[in-house]
Amino acid sequence: MSAIENLEIIEKKTLDAISKKATLEELDQLRITVVGKKGSLTQILRSMGTLSAEERPLVGKRANEVREKIEAALLTKKEELAAKELSERIEASALDISLPGRSRPQGHAHVISQIVKEVEEIFIGLGYTVEDGPYVETEYYNFTSLNAPKDHPSRSPRDTFYVVDPTVAHPKEEIDTRKNIISDVLLRTQTSPVQMRTMEKQCPPIYMISPGLVFRPDTPDANHLPQFTQIEGLVIDKGITFGDLRGTLDHMTRALFGNDRRTRYRPHFFPFTEPSCEIDVSCGVCGGKGCRFCNHAGWLEILGAGLVDPNVLQNAGIDPNVYSGFAFGMGAERIAALRYNLPDLRLLTTGDMRFLEQF
Ligand code: PHE
Repeated sequence: MSAIENLEIIEKKTLDAISKKATLEELDQLRITVVGKKGSLTQILRSMGTLSAEERPLVGKRANEVREKIEAALLTKKEELAAKELSERIEASALDISLPGRSRPQGHAHVISQIVKEVEEIFIGLGYTVEDGPYVETEYYNFTSLNAPKDHPSRSPRDTFYVVDPTVAHPKEEIDTRKNIISDVLLRTQTSPVQMRTMEKQCPPIYMISPGLVFRPDTPDANHLPQFTQIEGLVIDKGITFGDLRGTLDHMTRALFGNDRRTRYRPHFFPFTEPSCEIDVSCGVCGGKGCRFCNHAGWLEILGAGLVDPNVLQNAGIDPNVYSGFAFGMGAERIAALRYNLPDLRLLTTGDMRFLEQF
């Protein structure tokens, strides 16, 4: 077969093969076998030296034509296949805009935040202000100014988290027994220090509530949390009596628990109120007959209250001969538990949406 004939065959076969290739990879394989280093056309071009002087220009001319044609065809096909592969890839990963969108669930306030807001609204409706105070308190505001004697058990480091200067070294026994590690800075154990702060800041008449976190070194169980939410209340005005306390707190318990829950006032002791009481609400599970939820008492404690002790008024620079008042403090977690008959306060501190979504 002459070199020219050979070129004709290569040209025809190659152009035919190019038109049939379906992928860029196959096309590249074909390119290598024809115009690659050892390709069939390359070999003919390389063997020009073995041809006679008459044949050489003819074959050379034809060979270049064939090479140009093949290379042009390869390029066109390459562009065509690249465009096809790109559109296939786009199609495979394309969005289906006819599918419904992924909706983001709408959140809502935690049940404790809801209760705080509800209590705020009840008291704002009665003309009270809402006050705030620091979580890190001094011993003076948390205890001393509130008439707590120096040896009151709640001052013990077993009942109060003291904020200790880390640069002061304590012997290991002191740390183990928590003895002597008492500083005058602490995490407030109650919202009552806001009573004193408000009396120092404002002149009577004072009608305020103050919700916020409090901290106690308690191991969490069904009825205790080491961090919980209290709502404090304080009224200072002329001629305030226990009747005002009772009317106000009955109004609040009815608003929170409904008209069918009864209340009872039990004598109690708090250093900063005199007389003091604890207030119970009838059990919502048994209606007051006694069951496991109320420990067979028929009643559940919801708050502490009392008339402001004259010593406290004096500490705040208010004349107890002119003014009197009442104060109360309650736990928001406890209100939630009593209202929704929750068996365990710890449920409120988990992020379990199956529980929280119910409120
Ligand atoms: N601070 C008290 C407590 O934490 C509650 C209380 C507040 C009692 C105000 C009387 C008056 O138990």
